[in-house]
Amino acid sequence: MATGIPRKSSSERGRPNGAEPALHYGGKAQAEAVRGAPYERSALVCEVNPPAPANRLYYGDNLDVLMELAGGGIKGMVRLAYIDPPFSTNGRFECRNRNAAYDDTLQGAEYVEFMRRRLLLIHDLLSDDGSMYLHLDSNMVFHMKLVMDEVFGGRNFRALITRRKCSNKNYTRNTYGNVSDYILFYTKTDDYVWNRPYVPWDEDRILKEYPCLDEGTGRRYKKVPIHAPGERNGGTGRPWRGVSPPPGKHWQYPPERLEELDRNGEIYWSRTGNPRRKVYLDESEGVPVQDIWLDCRDSVNQNDRVTGYPTEKNIGMLRRIVSASSGPGDLVMDCFCGSGSTLDAASQLGRAWIGIDSSIEAIGSTVRRFTEGTGRHGDYVTGGQGRPLPPTPGEGFGVYVSPCHDAARAEEVARLLEGHLPRPRAAAQAALGQSPAGGPSPAGAWQP
Ligand SMILES: C[S@@+](CC[C@H](N)C(=O)[O-])C[C@H]1O[C@@H](n2cnc3c(N)ncnc32)[C@H](O)[C@@H]1O
Repeated sequence: MATGIPRKSSSERGRPNGAEPALHYGGKAQAEAVRGAPYERSALVCEVNPPAPANRLYYGDNLDVLMELAGGGIKGMVRLAYIDPPFSTNGRFECRNRNAAYDDTLQGAEYVEFMRRRLLLIHDLLSDDGSMYLHLDSNMVFHMKLVMDEVFGGRNFRALITRRKCSNKNYTRNTYGNVSDYILFYTKTDDYVWNRPYVPWDEDRILKEYPCLDEGTGRRYKKVPIHAPGERNGGTGRPWRGVSPPPGKHWQYPPERLEELDRNGEIYWSRTGNPRRKVYLDESEGVPVQDIWLDCRDSVNQNDRVTGYPTEKNIGMLRRIVSASSGPGDLVMDCFCGSGSTLDAASQLGRAWIGIDSSIEAIGSTVRRFTEGTGRHGDYVTGGQGRPLPPTPGEGFGVYVSPCHDAARAEEVARLLEGHLPRPRAAAQAALGQSPAGGPSPAGAWQP
């Protein structure tokens, strides 16, 4: 494999004369006009398993809610935003119970601008060490790469993850089966939270990479050279135990450290007297996760637990993202939260969360996920509604309606929660009574 030698720092790479390429289209608003546009406030209508003031589920258009959050003390507080917006498929999505979930009809420039406005606000909400993951398919990922470069800066692009989303397809069209989608990973700055994710070694790979067994201990190891490029004048450049480093190289460790390694039995001597270091499998954290994810398909197994919401993403994938780019107690946001997969992953990992969705089916799926649990995929496939399994134990959350004077939406939420929670309808009506249009924002400052 040939790899070019980088001549510039990553911040300069690919930007001759310092210019970022930009996407031009009709209807592109000035960033400041987007940030300064008027917006409607939300109202808290119910609390599920209170108290947990940091966790919030908003029913409404995320543009209004993002603006409210940015103006209400959350600006710069979100450590991680993951979003899985509509992919511009020109389709309608239904839940497994056949209820309409949402339409995905925006196309071309209209779609790009819809997304760009929200991305500008998400950028404002992120902390300086925060991260942003944007999940898309091949339809719009290249358009949105340019938009992300514009909003986050090309130098803050970290990875384009290719995910295997499903099993092989028997395509009748004359093209390759489409089994992948993509996640753009950006950070706000180059100093960001990063907990490298690992996957366990598989048996074949262990035998290939760690072929040796330590005679005394039975520990499995591999042999690695103990020299590095470049000549040195000090101890690392001189012969050790009568052996000189190869021409143009030096020992990686000073002689005292090499002695210590040898005393501990960590040096392997070849028959020709060439020293190498033993690197043990049991000291490895696993295989670092690369940018192709084959192990995160969406609900393939009949025993997988799902909510029945369409386009529900793999919870293991979301746990990986949440673990890699946030810490316990951090605030995680998904403003296209659907069935609440990101919120569930955040809750399981001890993070606080904010979810937003404009579909009542999404709000219902999220509430049920946290109050009743999820059902087996197989139960939905066979026509059932899914037998609930216990929910993730976690803190409660507030349910908000946006805009706050939308009585029809508050009524929908009240109906949805009836039977699940005590007196939600009364709570919704009371909240509406207290929150006239343009009234005080319930979004207080989030305490880290
Ligand atoms: C692909 S789904 C997200 C699925 C989610 N990741 C999950 O695991 O369940 C996209 C979601 O975006 C929501 N959505 C679309 N436009 C929105 C808007 N303007 N504001 C809030 N939510 C929106 C849809 O209702 C839908 O639930």
